[in-house]
Amino acid sequence: MTDFHFLTPTEIVFGKSSEEHLTGLLAKYGAHKVLIHYGGGSAERSGLLTKIRTMLGSAGIAHVELGGVVPNPKLSLVRDGIALCKKEHVDFILAVGGGSVIDSSKGIGYGLAYDGDVWDFFDAKATPKDAVPIGVVLTIPASGSEMSDSTVITNDELDLKRGSNSDLCRPKFAIMNPERTYTLPAFQTACGITDILMHTLERYFSKTHMDITDAIAEGLLRTVMDAGKKVLDDPFNYELRATIMWAGSLSHNGLTGCGAISDFGTHRLEHELSTMYGVAHGAGLAALWCYWAKYVHAEDPSRFESLSKNVLGGAEPIQAMREFFHSIGMPASIRELIGRRATDAEIEEMALRCSRGGDFKVGNFKVLGQKEMLDIYKMANE
Ligand code: NZQ
Ligand code: ZN
Repeated sequence: MTDFHFLTPTEIVFGKSSEEHLTGLLAKYGAHKVLIHYGGGSAERSGLLTKIRTMLGSAGIAHVELGGVVPNPKLSLVRDGIALCKKEHVDFILAVGGGSVIDSSKGIGYGLAYDGDVWDFFDAKATPKDAVPIGVVLTIPASGSEMSDSTVITNDELDLKRGSNSDLCRPKFAIMNPERTYTLPAFQTACGITDILMHTLERYFSKTHMDITDAIAEGLLRTVMDAGKKVLDDPFNYELRATIMWAGSLSHNGLTGCGAISDFGTHRLEHELSTMYGVAHGAGLAALWCYWAKYVHAEDPSRFESLSKNVLGGAEPIQAMREFFHSIGMPASIRELIGRRATDAEIEEMALRCSRGGDFKVGNFKVLGQKEMLDIYKMANE
């Protein structure tokens, strides 16, 4: 095992009554003027935003609003949010939604505490030194952003999707009511399940191990796959929704990676699919993982054997994962993801961008340079 640093400062309030704690949490974390940041309409339709506005009004907490966050959130809206918050003297950002809204909020939080251009943090030109705090009312379990140190933003001028990592952006609190996820379409539910599995698999495929971490990871993978299959036929099952929601946070708050060196190669490759084709992150991961696995298998076959034995009931692991993705309605190749094969030019462009012009490498289980990226995209394009 490797030495590790584990920090999970986010206060979690979980369950059917969790939303009642919102104004108390805002007061506890020093909010005087709040930006309510949200997406394209699901939180309005469900009545969640109305409830939040009423609660803030009753508690005398001033707020402004900015909606319109799209999946794979855009830098242009982050910039709008920074300008609005500066003008309105906002000191706390409340993200109402999923990974895209949370990451857009994190971007605004960084930008408010920085004199330069917020993209500097995503372009590796600067390291965040401070951030305006954020809180979360989570409506989709998937990204784990509600507890993670990560922010992923798409620069819509440059057509680049980039991540930035710092403990400064970890939310102060996250309110999680599994009932809020009943309205999720089956496709978004399945994308979330895939992303949750992938956040643990990206840590599980490591050449360093710790028995307790492996046991937690394997238990999480088994549980999410089991609940994931059931929930699509039983979407109003509270226990299943709750299991998946909590697993989403545990999968990406660092717990399943303690003592290991994470890989995250599939995530890096996927971000180029999201940028090129505007696809959902979870679906893009499902389209790539089996090919990544085939490509890196020889690095340590025993890792695949453990996955088979401890998670997949002894089945051949790559085929078993392919069948699982199909069983929840996910694509398992680029062709299935975008409805056609990617062109050679598109594949070359994605490998070029992923390698940031050729020199940048991704992954750890097997380090991937531009050539290896090209190989995997080509395999996944079958
Ligand atoms: O915009 P609205 O109308 O709210 O609709 C959303 C959106 O279309 C909808 N939705 C959310 N909650 C709903 C709902 N529909 C009905 N009922 C509800 N309760 O779901 C759609 C997808 O939402 P989005 O926030 O985009 O999904 P997700 O949570 O999967 O976030 C994806 C983003 O997170 C990034 C991804 O790259 C992607 O940009 N990630 C962030 C990470 C992090 N910060 O730690 C880690 C991840 O690996 C990931 O990269
Ligand atoms: Zn992810």
